[in-house]
Amino acid sequence: MQNRKLLIAIDGPAGVGKTSVGKALASKYNLGFLSTGIMYRCLGWKALKSGVNLQDEEAVFQIAKNIVWGFEKEADSNLKVLVDGQFLGDALLSEEVARAASITSALPKARAVITDKQKALAKEGGLVMEGRDIGTVIAPNADLKFYMVASAEARANRRVLQLKEKGQEANYDEILKSIISRDERDSSRKTAPLKPASDAILIDTSTLSLEEVINKVLELSRTNAS
Ligand code: DC
Repeated sequence: MQNRKLLIAIDGPAGVGKTSVGKALASKYNLGFLSTGIMYRCLGWKALKSGVNLQDEEAVFQIAKNIVWGFEKEADSNLKVLVDGQFLGDALLSEEVARAASITSALPKARAVITDKQKALAKEGGLVMEGRDIGTVIAPNADLKFYMVASAEARANRRVLQLKEKGQEANYDEILKSIISRDERDSSRKTAPLKPASDAILIDTSTLSLEEVINKVLELSRTNAS
């Protein structure tokens, strides 16, 4: 499976390990890796910065439409996302931006702008794309589709550990609440809700270590690749 034009889709809720698994797959098959949620986070960040009401579909659409996207491949195969020539980095990782991304990504007109861009990238291929709607909307013809799940509690525990490792404050109850409300918003929206494609391989990571998940996905990719 060394084809540069290969397209692998990984979908699932927040905090399930899609990025680590996606990067491992990308480096194994010499593909680029794109976290599509970063693009929605950029939109959320821009909407917050411009002070518009996050539910204002027309205002958020104008912001989405005017973004000039850039993509730069990094050494670990990750595609770094640039917005109007700027790399936003850690500014995109806050809970506030995650919430803004979840709200604005549910607005159909703004979403369509970003979806078009992602579809064009998927068409070029040579990528592992991670998100919520890759297997269902962005790349329904992907060569391989994974849908990762884990209980909200397992994901909240992982997030707490990650934050503590970075020496940051972590409140389990607040994190769990935020994960549950983001899951609800992402799954219940009308446009491209979070759901598995009918031909996706389901992987429950609740009781697996990251290494076990990566090994499992690499094994499945060997046996299921077309
Ligand atoms: O994966 P993430 O946490 O960085 O995504 C941020 C938000 O973006 C998420 O709450 C829902 C939205 N999103 C989406 O609607 N479709 C995608 N393909 C990826 C993310």
